Amino acid sequence: MTDLVPNHHAHYRQFSGAFGYLAGLTMILGRGRDARLVAGIADLDETDHLVDIGCGPGTAARLAARQGARVTGIDPAEPMLRLARLLTRFRRPVGEIEWIRAGAERLTLPDDSVTVCWSLAAVHHWPDLDAGLSEVRRVLTSGGTFIALEKRTPPGATGIASHGWTPGQAEALAAMLLEHGFGSAEVSNHELGRRRVVTVTGRT
Ligand SMILES: C[S@@+](CC[C@H](N)C(=O)[O-])C[C@H]1O[C@@H](n2cnc3c(N)ncnc32)[C@H](O)[C@@H]1O
Repeated sequence: MTDLVPNHHAHYRQFSGAFGYLAGLTMILGRGRDARLVAGIADLDETDHLVDIGCGPGTAARLAARQGARVTGIDPAEPMLRLARLLTRFRRPVGEIEWIRAGAERLTLPDDSVTVCWSLAAVHHWPDLDAGLSEVRRVLTSGGTFIALEKRTPPGATGIASHGWTPGQAEALAAMLLEHGFGSAEVSNHELGRRRVVTVTGRT
């Protein structure tokens, strides 16, 4: 049963304080392919409002901004938002990105105001999945898209190797999306070089 819970690292505490900066630094490199994958699925353009939930240092948010979307990056950990702001200042210029300190379970955004939400390597950390998915559904417009991306992990993995989803956990998240009023939910596996990831895409 534990294998089916998609937020098996809820309440993981190491994104705050000094360790949070170290954790954030490890996320600066190697996330570009994940970002390009979800941007391709979302097919963003300048009419979109994209919200990156659990944005970390902001790689995927910056890519979305370069594609012309209006972008909001949300993360509950202050070190992540500081790194995101800093990197955005010093990397290739992008449009304005709004950074908000919040968790998925309380998105401080109006109803029906967002066309695409994505969450990369973060849903497995959300402390309250039902609350988070209700919030995502609330802020998405009709015809909106939610994409969750996680590293694929084998059942029974431990330690850092367990920070992702087994096939059962991905399917469980897809089932939850349907329970939360999404019209469809699709699980897809992807090979990004040697990195193997799974996406769950829900459409309202
Ligand atoms: C492994 S990092 C991934 C960061 C970024 N998305 C990436 O792929 O580089 C997980 C992120 O989830 C964030 N997070 C933790 N609890 C969260 C919550 N309740 N809601 C949203 N994000 C959360 C962490 O602060 C952290 O930035």
